[in-house]
Amino acid sequence: MHLTHSAHALAAEVIRPGGKVVDATAGNGHDTLFLAQAVGDRGKVLALDIQPLAIETTRARLSEAHLEARADLRVADHAALAELAAGWEGQVDCVMLNLGYLPGADRTLVTRPVTTGKALHAALGLLRVGGRIVCAVYTGHPGGEDESDLVDAFGFSCEEAGHDVRRLGREPRSGKPWLLVVTRAP
Ligand SMILES: C[S@@+](CC[C@H](N)C(=O)[O-])C[C@H]1O[C@@H](n2cnc3c(N)ncnc32)[C@H](O)[C@@H]1O
Repeated sequence: MHLTHSAHALAAEVIRPGGKVVDATAGNGHDTLFLAQAVGDRGKVLALDIQPLAIETTRARLSEAHLEARADLRVADHAALAELAAGWEGQVDCVMLNLGYLPGADRTLVTRPVTTGKALHAALGLLRVGGRIVCAVYTGHPGGEDESDLVDAFGFSCEEAGHDVRRLGREPRSGKPWLLVVTRAP
């Protein structure tokens, strides 16, 4: 199955109608649209991207689907996720991260290990019990393998803390994308 389809299927398993969810890398808005559909009309999506272009594209995609009201779209660094989602601690069904660069835009504006690490730790603090981080990792661009190792190490720290961790398709140094899936334990 395509990585994005797997990511959406894994997210859909834990998203409840009326739920709160986060897209930490809005990009072209495909994941934000999926999340806005999944939470229903009483749910809320917080979607972030450091690029104004990405947030504009995401807003247009949601608007076309008449789902803009379900989303809070912000030009922001996901390193500040804990502050941006203040009040949502322990309540979030799913945090999606789709790492790498924005397809069709400046490829140097790429996610980086330091900020990704902060976002992942903040994401874990937001999840309700049974909530899930779904993180798509790309390794083919410069710095991608380092970021992949960081995400993998975050997965180990989650395992040590007793959370359920799955790595789908991880083949170190293969250049292939993979998914880290962390489901929060009580
Ligand atoms: C692969 S794209 C995301 C694809 C998107 N989820 C979609 O459905 O189209 C990665 C995005 O991460 C964004 N990004 C990079 N660093 C970021 C950061 N520190 N905080 C938030 N977004 C960031 C990039 O601007 C880019 O749009």
